[in-house]
Amino acid sequence: MLRVGVCVSGGGTNLQAIIDKVESGAITGVELAAVVSNNAGAYALTRAKNHGIPVACISPKDYGTREAFHRALIETLDRFHLDLIVLAGFLVVIPEELVRKYRNRMINIHPSLIPSFCGTGNYGLAVHEHALKRGVKVTGATVHFVDEGTDTGPIILQKAVSVREDDTPESLQLRVMEEAEWEILPAAIDLIANGNIRVENGRVVRTT
Ligand code: GRF
Repeated sequence: MLRVGVCVSGGGTNLQAIIDKVESGAITGVELAAVVSNNAGAYALTRAKNHGIPVACISPKDYGTREAFHRALIETLDRFHLDLIVLAGFLVVIPEELVRKYRNRMINIHPSLIPSFCGTGNYGLAVHEHALKRGVKVTGATVHFVDEGTDTGPIILQKAVSVREDDTPESLQLRVMEEAEWEILPAAIDLIANGNIRVENGRVVRTT
């Protein structure tokens, strides 16, 4: 069983999609071993507790320096002996030491078709504001392995979503979550848990 830890900061709808698909058997070979947040008020923690998943909260406010926070975050994650870390709306800059330690074992969901609308300043609702401002006709979501950059690691899955004339940032964000994020993040976890992909020369390839 692949021991999976999910890092969250907010409502946890992506976490819920993962939980539901593990419990329904749509995802196989996965044990949800931990949910870790930097935000004690994150409803994602409630979702985890409702499903008996161990939780931990590591708030930067509790540490005098960023280095001390990073050390506590890494120690907390290591305590759960995870095989895969899933960043599901985790609003924390990932320390390079953690990227190195979990190279090709840490994935992130981003609400655009990378390389569009990603990188610094492109997170949450701003991603959709930028897409609407640019006038794109198609957007979507991307799951990728985490490397030292911002939204720059090897792409695992993407799913496109059409933009509608009457879309607002909020309506587009919701549809991207419903039609793309909540589908491809669980699917990516299932691919990894079943050994169906690997990273070759910086790109993700199917093994089966
Ligand atoms: C999602 O929109 C995701 O694309 C972004 O953060 C948001 C997390 O939402 N990375 P939730 O906490 O999973 O509801």
